[in-house]
Amino acid sequence: MKATSATPSTSAPVAHNALPPPSATSNARSSRIAPHSHIKGLGLTSDGLAAPDGSGFIGQTNAREACGVVVDLIKSRKFSGRALLLVGAPGTGKTALALAVSHELGNKVPFCPMVGSEVYSTEVKKTEVLAESFRRAIGLRIKETKEVYEGEVTELTPAESENPLSGYGKTVSHVIVGLKTVKGTKQLRLDPTIYEAILKEKIVVGDVIYVEANTGAVKRVGRSDAYASSYDLESETYVPLPKGDVHKRKELVQDVTLGDLDAANARPQGGQDIMSVMGSLVKSGRTEVTDKLRREVNKVVKGYVDQGVAEVVPGVVFIDEVHMLDIECFTYLNALLESPMAPTVILATNRGNALVRGTTDIVSPHGVPVDLLDRCLIVKTDGYNREQIGKVVQLRANVEGLKLGPGVLERIAEEGERGSMRYDSISINGEPLVTAFADMLSNFLRQPQSSLVFPEEVR
Ligand SMILES: Nc1ncnc2c1ncn2[C@@H]1O[C@H](COP(=O)(O)OP(=O)(O)OP(=O)(O)O)[C@@H](O)[C@H]1O
Ligand SMILES: [Mg+2]
Repeated sequence: MKATSATPSTSAPVAHNALPPPSATSNARSSRIAPHSHIKGLGLTSDGLAAPDGSGFIGQTNAREACGVVVDLIKSRKFSGRALLLVGAPGTGKTALALAVSHELGNKVPFCPMVGSEVYSTEVKKTEVLAESFRRAIGLRIKETKEVYEGEVTELTPAESENPLSGYGKTVSHVIVGLKTVKGTKQLRLDPTIYEAILKEKIVVGDVIYVEANTGAVKRVGRSDAYASSYDLESETYVPLPKGDVHKRKELVQDVTLGDLDAANARPQGGQDIMSVMGSLVKSGRTEVTDKLRREVNKVVKGYVDQGVAEVVPGVVFIDEVHMLDIECFTYLNALLESPMAPTVILATNRGNALVRGTTDIVSPHGVPVDLLDRCLIVKTDGYNREQIGKVVQLRANVEGLKLGPGVLERIAEEGERGSMRYDSISINGEPLVTAFADMLSNFLRQPQSSLVFPEEVR
């Protein structure tokens, strides 16, 4: 078995098997009850008309139908170079509509939400933040049949030898790994760099792993279910003993985004030299992803697509509060929209005529310069009446598992009609009727904008 190092470098072909950084769109997150968890889609019939309420959406039929048209355009790949701009008063469901559009496009489609003000950071250039979001919204599904050694680890013995260079201490010269499947067992003698990878993945005896034969990349699949414990709650995933031989060909499907590939190739990896040790100690998080690196990644990706190994899955970038962007960001957005690898862009704002940020005299509709507005399809959201607000509150209550007492719904709907669906909680706080809703209200009415935005740490 050839045991090369799995360390990617910018000049070598991009190791798409390099572990992507923890993805922002993990399944664990979406299962949480969030302000929009009742939204399952646009709720349109097959001929594109909106039912009064469907897929968690109440009313707002015009906007939903318009978004349905956009979804069709996107699916037939006729929406490139354009953006969807959602405008309307606060709390009228713009963010919800954007989410519904992403649901309609399919669940494996990357959805990358951000808020306009996120671009203002002292560490990273504004345009860089935008570019990164765009890259994160382009998925790549890589299908490969690879030669792997797979099985449950039965033995893990590093063999040490004297270090010929320093005379002090010992180094690992190779590692013996025993793998077991239903059909048989095999003992492998592996290179020390693979041992490092094994340590990094925290692999111990009893885990099911596979080692890729020609790159030496090690992946932990889970713990063998022979070791399953009787705890009710556990973070471990148990997998059955693999079938077939230890050495076999296996079809691997990986979903990564271009952003993941950029990040994986920009970060120093491997731990060969002192600098990369420093790099992992000083948790810098972001290393500069240069344009050159992006072009490099694009080239490799294009190669994979041409060979039929990978498939590009264009996703959705959602920029909420788009009026917070400034004129520089807007011009850059224009450029990004026209690039060949552009995802679908959805913008949202609740401003009417407003000054374009970063200028002193340009006032334009929605605070968006007219040249970008020209590229947008604008969809307006309408306000709700009391009955509709009542329905939304009822929906939310169901999602939160709350039972509303008599009269409560009417009372909240009345407040919702007077204020917005979000900010009227204060005036009813303290009422004995609604104390039971404290949780629901804080979730539903005081929905912080950040709930849709992935904070820096989870990136
Ligand atoms: N038509 C609707 N059907 C069901 N739920 C809705 C509808 N419209 C809004 N909601 C819910 O109401 C809450 C507020 O809506 P949302 O956050 O989408 O408003 P917004 O237009 O983005 O407001 P802002 O301008 O303040 O960002 C959310 O929980 C959303 O899911
Ligand atoms: Mg919003």
